[in-house]
Amino acid sequence: MKQLIKTFSACLLSVALFSCNQADKGIDNRTENSIESLLSQMTLEEKIGQMNQISSFGNLEEMGKQIKKGEIGSILNEVEASRVNALQRVAVEESRLGIPLLIARDVIHGFKTIFPIPLGQAATFNPQIAEDGARVAAIEASSVGIRWTFAPMIDISRDPRWGRIAESCGEDTYLTSVMGAAMVKGFQGDSLNHPASLAACAKHFVAYGASEGGRDYNSTNIPERQLRNVYLPPFEAAARQGAATFMTSFNDNDGVPSTGNKFILKDVLRDEWGFDGIVVSDWASVGEMISHGFAKDAAEAAMKATNAGVDMDMVSNAYLTSLKQLIENGKVSQSTIDNAVRHILRIKFRLGLFDNPYVKENQPSVFYTPDHLAKAKEAALQSVILLKNDNKTLPLKENIKTIAVVGPMADAPHDQLGTWIFDGEKAHTQTPLMALREHYGNRVRIIYEPGLTYSRDKSPAGIARAVNAARGADAILAFIGEEAILSGEAHSLAEINLQGAQAELISALSKTGKPLVTTIMAGRQLAIQETVKQSSALLYAFHPGTMGGPAIADLLFGEAVPSGKTPVTFPKITGQIPLFYSHNNTGRPPHATQTPLDSIPLEAGQTSAGAFSSYMDVDHRPLFPFGYGLSYTTFEYSNLQLSSTDVKKEDVITITFNLKNTGEYEATEVAQLYVQDIYASVTRPVKELKRFQRFTLKPGESKNVSFNLPVQELAFWNIDMKKVVEPGDFNLWVGTDSGQGLSSGFKVTD
Ligand code: BGC
Repeated sequence: MKQLIKTFSACLLSVALFSCNQADKGIDNRTENSIESLLSQMTLEEKIGQMNQISSFGNLEEMGKQIKKGEIGSILNEVEASRVNALQRVAVEESRLGIPLLIARDVIHGFKTIFPIPLGQAATFNPQIAEDGARVAAIEASSVGIRWTFAPMIDISRDPRWGRIAESCGEDTYLTSVMGAAMVKGFQGDSLNHPASLAACAKHFVAYGASEGGRDYNSTNIPERQLRNVYLPPFEAAARQGAATFMTSFNDNDGVPSTGNKFILKDVLRDEWGFDGIVVSDWASVGEMISHGFAKDAAEAAMKATNAGVDMDMVSNAYLTSLKQLIENGKVSQSTIDNAVRHILRIKFRLGLFDNPYVKENQPSVFYTPDHLAKAKEAALQSVILLKNDNKTLPLKENIKTIAVVGPMADAPHDQLGTWIFDGEKAHTQTPLMALREHYGNRVRIIYEPGLTYSRDKSPAGIARAVNAARGADAILAFIGEEAILSGEAHSLAEINLQGAQAELISALSKTGKPLVTTIMAGRQLAIQETVKQSSALLYAFHPGTMGGPAIADLLFGEAVPSGKTPVTFPKITGQIPLFYSHNNTGRPPHATQTPLDSIPLEAGQTSAGAFSSYMDVDHRPLFPFGYGLSYTTFEYSNLQLSSTDVKKEDVITITFNLKNTGEYEATEVAQLYVQDIYASVTRPVKELKRFQRFTLKPGESKNVSFNLPVQELAFWNIDMKKVVEPGDFNLWVGTDSGQGLSSGFKVTD
């Protein structure tokens, strides 16, 4: 009975999630009939073939032979229309049942026109930017026949040592949920069926971002409650948005590799969320269950993965070589295989591949169109965070006649694109140096002396030259950060300091006494405490993509005003990691006046310096909190009001406040709403982001604005592992970042 109820509610949810209207239902019914009819004609070998994904090995003829035999369901890494069509022709015209291939590629933050890395996009706190970026990527990638991208990556990432934080939307569950869903919407467009739509892939399912010590591919140990409260919601949001596919992750969680995790892949994804698309393994992760020590050989790995719910094996070849025998031995059931094939065919039908398998060749190029470049520039503009601006150094004023442009990232067309840009071309990148020369060269004299040629460069001679150049200028624009290769998959760091001699470069430049404006382009938040102190102003741009240069130049000269906010907490030093704002309180929260290490007297009593949850050698506070970012103007929050301070679980609270631009520039503020469930059946975070919105105000303008918050959104997985709103008292803040704000509170009753 319990199972029946579960299945029934899963069906209801599934209907709610995936069926929109009668017309769609008609299409869905036809699709389901076509799937069943095709399935009934397929041999076991052909079914297994659909579950096999290869990476292109180049030779069209050899791949053709396998396709003709029905041994391949999907190919990744083919990026030319004529080749895609050639392969598709074999599948459609020469294989027995003519089932089209699904052509896949990692199109992560752009295909040709590269947008800011996802972490940078998250800094915009603007889902429209994420949607536009994904749409542009879909238009460009689909023009060569790609119909499946392995994005968005929505792993909650709280450890900047982990190189893949660059691909994520950062540390926060709600922000990641909103941005990830927007990316799904952008990739998939209005209908998957449109030739310019890509099937999105929510990855990596799940908890990969919590890899031990930030070392890639490592184990995680996230208990179910934390999984459900923190790591799963962005995936549920992606499923609700209609993401066509999901990818498993490389990590083992509590001893079970994700690729063999039935609880996650079936109980949660299929039964609870009603997902009906494809689950693909990560690259070779079926086979890697042998290295994990979870399977003794490829056959056992294939058995565990299929039975756990992995429909498609990405490049392990384990399904192709073992599934037939596993079925014959009764280790995998025929219905498991049939279900996997149904999922795969369903997405091929939804993409319209059966009706329209080929991509149009010799079309006018859709790469780098003015519209795509404009959208990439807007994304870069909104992604840049102003972390410091002493004495209103920025925007640069009329009295600045000569600028010294220095640093290894000033003119690094490849590196500013960031990680995961298989198809991006540095020849199209516009660097800050280029943009400054082109757009501001008539306003200021530019002396370019990079000092260091790349981020790991340690040359002292270069520093001396840069300092000399700086002495002859009115202001220094220093561009530092990380090469693209220092973040991304398998590129973790044990220390997140600036590489090479960049810290020395900034230090030497600061000693000239000239205004020093530092711009950092990087794949992660770096530990930049000293650099911040030494700089007069500091912009954090992550890796801003193709149009990063013009965006940064406009911000420096005040043609645009920064509005980015940190999507991750910035630690002072690496040793503070993990450091994130929505932590639990502990029984002994850190104390503002804790004794610094050097002030502890000799032979002090064990408890004389207090007993708090903190370090002795570094302040417990971050360098910059989550959600932080300055503007050239100032904003004032006032008059916070709640529609009611005594609410029921089914109510919606309206939170109203006044936001005023009290400075001199028209600018955009990202207002943020945080809530704390003060006391509950399990400990809850000290603060959680619940809403955010960008508001643009003219100088002096003031607006009454509001957020609507359904009380149901305060639900969490409680002591009984039920998702509920527990009655009680809540704190609430509205403000400019997670570290400050107007505060209020309310009570929830049954
Ligand atoms: C990565 C995935 C990626 C896949 C295919 C793996 O190594 O973890 O994120 O989509 O390769 O390239």
